[in-house]
Amino acid sequence: MKAAILTVSDRCARGEAKDRSGRALRRALATRGIEVVGASLVADEKSAIQEQLLRMSDELAADVVLTTGGTGLGPRDVTPEATEAVVERRVPGIAEAIRAGSLAKTVTAMLSRGTAGLRGRTLIVNLPGSPRGAVECLEILWPALGHAVEMIQGGGHPEEARENDAASAPPG
Ligand code: MTE
Repeated sequence: MKAAILTVSDRCARGEAKDRSGRALRRALATRGIEVVGASLVADEKSAIQEQLLRMSDELAADVVLTTGGTGLGPRDVTPEATEAVVERRVPGIAEAIRAGSLAKTVTAMLSRGTAGLRGRTLIVNLPGSPRGAVECLEILWPALGHAVEMIQGGGHPEEARENDAASAPPG
């Protein structure tokens, strides 16, 4: 599985803060054996976020792009809008699961407007901007991520694959 990380932060882009959430995600992916094929940092600008999402999905062909930051209620938080502008199909269950799982840890989880969706064969998932929050949300996503990527590549559920094999087998 190939992953890319996009950090969205005005303060990091201005050099006023270190990209701690991007680094935390990189470490969390490395411990899970996931190759990181690209990592970028942009300010909270819709066009810059979209440009990186397009590069990571269309050029780097990442299986999953994790964004961190810009999902909240601040006037400059536009990561969900940028994501929705580039995805072709939304995957609402991922955002629902992340919010529900996060609510068990912190009440402020309801303030993340993060979304998830598919662009071609790339799954894009918005995670919050705090390093701990980003990793917590990756942990929620993780158990379903392998199956998600298999499905995106055209692999069905194991049971479906068996049924399809049976349907196409010659009679007798
Ligand atoms: N989800 C988890 N699991 N852990 C967190 O610490 N932080 C919340 C929320 N989701 C958090 C979380 C907070 S405080 C905010 S404001 C929103 O995510 C949006 O964060 P963002 O604007 O940095 O994306």
